[in-house]
Amino acid sequence: MEQESSQDGFVLQVSDLRKLFSVPRGIVGTLLKRPQRYVHAVDGVSFAMAGGEILGLVGESGSGKTTTALCVLGLIEPTEGEILFNGQSVQALARSRERRRLRQQMQLIFQDPYESLNPRQTVFATVAEPVEIHRLTRGREEKVERVKAALNAAGLKPPEIFLERYPEDLSGGQRQRVVIAGALVLNPELLVADEPVSMLDVSIRAEILNLLRQLRDEHGITILYITHDLATAAHFTDRVAVMYLGRIVEIGPTKTVLRNPGHPYTQALLSVIPVPNPRRRRKRMILVGETPNPIDLPSGCRFHPRCPVASEECSQTEPQLRSVGPDHQVACL
Ligand SMILES: Nc1ncnc2c1ncn2[C@@H]1O[C@H](COP(=O)(O)OP(=O)(O)OP(=O)(O)O)[C@@H](O)[C@H]1O
Ligand SMILES: [Mg+2]
Repeated sequence: MEQESSQDGFVLQVSDLRKLFSVPRGIVGTLLKRPQRYVHAVDGVSFAMAGGEILGLVGESGSGKTTTALCVLGLIEPTEGEILFNGQSVQALARSRERRRLRQQMQLIFQDPYESLNPRQTVFATVAEPVEIHRLTRGREEKVERVKAALNAAGLKPPEIFLERYPEDLSGGQRQRVVIAGALVLNPELLVADEPVSMLDVSIRAEILNLLRQLRDEHGITILYITHDLATAAHFTDRVAVMYLGRIVEIGPTKTVLRNPGHPYTQALLSVIPVPNPRRRRKRMILVGETPNPIDLPSGCRFHPRCPVASEECSQTEPQLRSVGPDHQVACL
């Protein structure tokens, strides 16, 4: 697989990404000329990914993970900020004739393999469809070979026995493998996996994550892994970025962040993960209060209303990410 990357070696560079959604005012609100309000779904997110890296984007529901992913893929327009894929603006590519190439090189895998597969299509038809759309092969034989190679890479072996099956003939894990084969068949450089295992049985989650890691190891695919579950990210990613209400509050090598979490929010997420050795168990930190909504954001540090160690200053000053160790940054005063 040929891999190109930008001069500084990053496949993906996200700088100061913001995405606001306007909140419908309703008839009354419009008549009363109430001010337009916005959901701050993503509110100043920056990170970069080197080729062949697996980065975990971790955070509670509503923290802006999927919105970040959709901007990265060029599927929605950011309000502000820049996203570079191999040094080229994703937004510009998405508007240009290069769009097709972008759609081929970046692939999205969703959480629900039941929804992403058409129940009336065979496995062959499903995996062949993107090949046809992108006109990647000449003739049926080449197409069949390409589909079989993708099924094989997705761990559906031998591929021949799966070609004529329908989704209903497959287990949940096999269906997600078909979805993954449908992405692999295009030889993507970046895979965005949004909660790819959250709908699957616990027993097969590790299998699918191991498959994704194997794809990285063998084909150098760069993977953005999105999850609310720090436990799966712990075993599978090289680096993690922890999101809270539209911002990254901590980012660093996974091992470092797990061993030495710098942000109280990361510490709280970690404290509820079961660890095999009870003597190493952390004190459970239960977060008080609900996640504030991203419309009326708290002043200062947006985590301060729930933070067990918040001080007066935290309600006034918004902390920026700063270095606390090699490659490790934390946004906490
Ligand atoms: N199209 C939209 N219009 C208005 N608000 C939106 C839209 N998409 C997302 N939001 C809001 O933006 C915020 C972030 O949503 P997003 O889906 O990115 O979160 P998430 O981290 O992926 O959450 P989850 O873990 O539940 O998937 C939420 O408050 C959500 O309600
Ligand atoms: Mg989401």
